[in-house]
Amino acid sequence: MSTPADSSNLMEALVSLAKRRGFIYASSEIYGGLNGFFDYGPLGVELKRNIRDAWWRDMVHRRDDVVGIETSIIMHPKVWEASGHVAGFSDPLVDCKASKQRYRADQLFWSPVVVDGKTVSYVSALESEKTTEDLQAAAESFKRKKAIVGTLAPVVAKDFTEASVEEIPLIPSPATGEPGSLTAPRAFNMMFQTNVGAMTDASSVAYLRPETAQGMFVDFKNVIDTTRVKLPFGIAQIGKSFRNEITPRNFIFRSREFEQMEMEYFIHEDADWATCHEEWITWCENWLKSIGLPESHLSRYAHPKEKLAFYSRGTVDIMFKYPFGVQELWGIAARGNYDLTQHANASGKPQEMFDETTKKKFVPHVIEPAVGTDRIFLAVLASAYAEEDVTDEKGNVEKRTVLRLSPRIAPVKVAVLPLLKNKEALTNRAKALYTKLKRNYAVQYDDGGAIGKRYRRQDEAGTPWCVTIDFDTIEKEGDTFTLRERDSMSQKRVTEAGLFALLAEHVY
Ligand code: GAP
Repeated sequence: MSTPADSSNLMEALVSLAKRRGFIYASSEIYGGLNGFFDYGPLGVELKRNIRDAWWRDMVHRRDDVVGIETSIIMHPKVWEASGHVAGFSDPLVDCKASKQRYRADQLFWSPVVVDGKTVSYVSALESEKTTEDLQAAAESFKRKKAIVGTLAPVVAKDFTEASVEEIPLIPSPATGEPGSLTAPRAFNMMFQTNVGAMTDASSVAYLRPETAQGMFVDFKNVIDTTRVKLPFGIAQIGKSFRNEITPRNFIFRSREFEQMEMEYFIHEDADWATCHEEWITWCENWLKSIGLPESHLSRYAHPKEKLAFYSRGTVDIMFKYPFGVQELWGIAARGNYDLTQHANASGKPQEMFDETTKKKFVPHVIEPAVGTDRIFLAVLASAYAEEDVTDEKGNVEKRTVLRLSPRIAPVKVAVLPLLKNKEALTNRAKALYTKLKRNYAVQYDDGGAIGKRYRRQDEAGTPWCVTIDFDTIEKEGDTFTLRERDSMSQKRVTEAGLFALLAEHVY
């Protein structure tokens, strides 16, 4: 098995496959696209739905302590004041006045160029897998071009938020390579604003939600008053969120409209939050593995205490090794009782539960696993993609592209292929099987072209199994089909009952 040699080739291959096979298109493509927005095509929508459904089944249906809700995307603007988003949901923005480019200050890196202990200039580079190498190369190039003699010190990468007022005018813009055009960082609120109703004045301002989580906090009382939940319990939601990201990038990794799958797990104020936090981190890791992400690509990042919000007790991110580097996939935060307390104070409605033992009221604390469906989608594509050389029956070597997707989430579970399309006995049997299968599973019927070509088409779509209805099916006893397995390409004969049993075992 092989994958494209380097990571940028892998990203290119993924973007190209996604377009070619109808997984993902740029939004409004005929108008040139809109940066940070994407459409999911026929295969993509199935894959995404399967990821979402697998999460919902495991998180809600298969647990006794989690219920689901769906809240509106536009909520009362006071929600976002109470949650702190109006005042503080911002990224530090830097403008380049010369090129009109905009950067996130914490993704724009710089270093002094120090020769024989003296700062002679500054260099800059955008965050990447090799930020320090890029800065070092820029420093060496500067020294060479200016024919400066002496020993160059290794660069020290700092992000732009660490630049002093004196340093800012000396740091070159990554767009022009010249200093003097970068502004000091300023807070840029990432919430999309809109107006509700016919008036467009300050009183009608509302926001597209930047996270689904606040829906769970605002409906906390509704859920405990209308269901029989008892602590500890969770409220889960899947839905769209919107962030006006300064630098949407890496395909669907950071976009401006995306889907979140979040769950707020409420626990007693005296509960052992650290154990509960750890249990949820492990649950999330196991779930990612259950949909086929390799353990070798997963790691943990514990946010340093000094960088946590004042109310946060701890946050651990599950990181994934994407082609462009190790990045956050799933955040699991222990948020204390901050959110419920904020909403209680802002609305004047207590958000409490009653402790039968102590006979006292208290505000529950919360553990919050929050993940983006699109980020999982990209992780799934990146780890499933492979290119390999295969030899056909005639001894010709050809390249096959295959998506080794878990059957749990593969867009198509089985392809039904009559060996010949003009032989009624074959097509009738194939259609009967196809009709029966599609009652329960996403299946495709394909009778176009040579059988090898049809297998390749399904390999690229990530279809785990193909069944071929051939002459043995109709001429021999037993009504068996050829079952071809995607990853090993091995073939064996299987009955209809055997095929259904296989699907029941792997598609859950
Ligand atoms: N309620 C907590 C919360 O929203 P977050 O870390 O800002 O926390 C949670 O977001 C998850 O949502 C992230 O771990 C990531 O998977 C996903 N996410 C966040 N911003 C995203 C974006 N711009 N594009 C795609 N996914 C995003």
